[in-house]
Amino acid sequence: MKNIMSVFLVVLFVSFLNGQTETEKKSHSFVGSSTCGMCHKAEKAGKQLDIWNGSKHALAYKALQTKEADAIAAEKGFKTPAVKTDACLKCHAVGYNADAALLGAKFKVEDGVQCESCHGAGSDYKDMKVMKNKEESISKGLMMHSDGEKFCTTCHNSESPTFKGFNYAEAWSKISHQIPIKK
Ligand code: HEC
Ligand code: HEC
Ligand code: HEC
Ligand code: HEC
Repeated sequence: MKNIMSVFLVVLFVSFLNGQTETEKKSHSFVGSSTCGMCHKAEKAGKQLDIWNGSKHALAYKALQTKEADAIAAEKGFKTPAVKTDACLKCHAVGYNADAALLGAKFKVEDGVQCESCHGAGSDYKDMKVMKNKEESISKGLMMHSDGEKFCTTCHNSESPTFKGFNYAEAWSKISHQIPIKK
């Protein structure tokens, strides 16, 4: 009887451990900027989609599909075209090295530096109910950045082969996409 009980407990404990690692392993999927844009497009929401679309970030992947980019990659000693070089893609795109299962149907790597480059993969926070609760959104993968400059300079730094300095205030004014203050 005692033995059966301990076997039972061991089985229970092992399945508990499995459950734990399953949740830890579960990663958020990328949904793509057009999905975020469904709710972040209207004037009163702050037109984040249009602002991003009009920014250089939306062109960051395409910037690697040029002769100029390939020349930079070759000069750095890479044998692959720029757009196939992880050391370039890491700042010019997102999701390019993610498991295919984590790429939603509307996600496009060609969108370059997109919403989810800066705010984290959105599959688990994109629902209205979650989005309206900031803490819950953050617990489900939303990334916010209290120190904007520190965040931007993870890419805007001298590791960029074309780097010519970075003025945070000026750069932020070009891509600022605030939610209008409610009256
Ligand atoms: C179903 C609609 C919907 C979708 C889809 C959606 N959002 Fe939101 N989001 C909202 C709403 C509503 C708020 C809260 C706005 C407010 O507080 O006025 C919000 C807030 C935010 C905030 C600000 C959080 C805060 O409280 O400071 C960020 C950042 C954000 N969303 C990013 C994204 C990104 C990135 C995506 C795509 C992965 C996305 N959203 C998809 C509706 C949505
Ligand atoms: C280059 C990085 C970057 C990209 C790309 C980007 N964001 Fe942001 N976003 C930020 C930063 C930084 C903030 C300010 C964070 C803070 O206030 O904590 C912000 C703030 C926001 C806010 C809150 C604004 C407020 O007034 O509180 C929303 C909503 C938002 N982003 C949505 C989006 C959506 C939707 C997209 C894509 C269409 C997007 N962002 C693309 C970096 C980015
Ligand atoms: C994931 C990497 C990454 C992050 C994080 C990032 N950027 Fe960028 N940014 C780029 C790349 C790559 C380009 C060049 C795109 C191109 O020219 O096609 C760029 C270009 C820009 C440009 C246009 C440059 C110009 O000369 O006009 C501005 C402005 C800018 N970023 C602002 C910001 C700000 C502000 C932040 C932080 C809130 C930020 N970026 C965060 C990768 C990033
Ligand atoms: C550390 C992040 C980072 C890495 C790594 C990086 N880039 Fe960039 N790249 C940027 C940023 C940020 C910009 C825009 C501002 C600047 O020039 O620093 C940019 C701009 C560019 C531009 C100019 C785009 C335009 O609109 O004129 C080209 C071309 C480019 N990068 C090619 C490459 C190639 C090729 C590689 C790989 C060998 C690479 N980058 C690696 C961050 C990076």
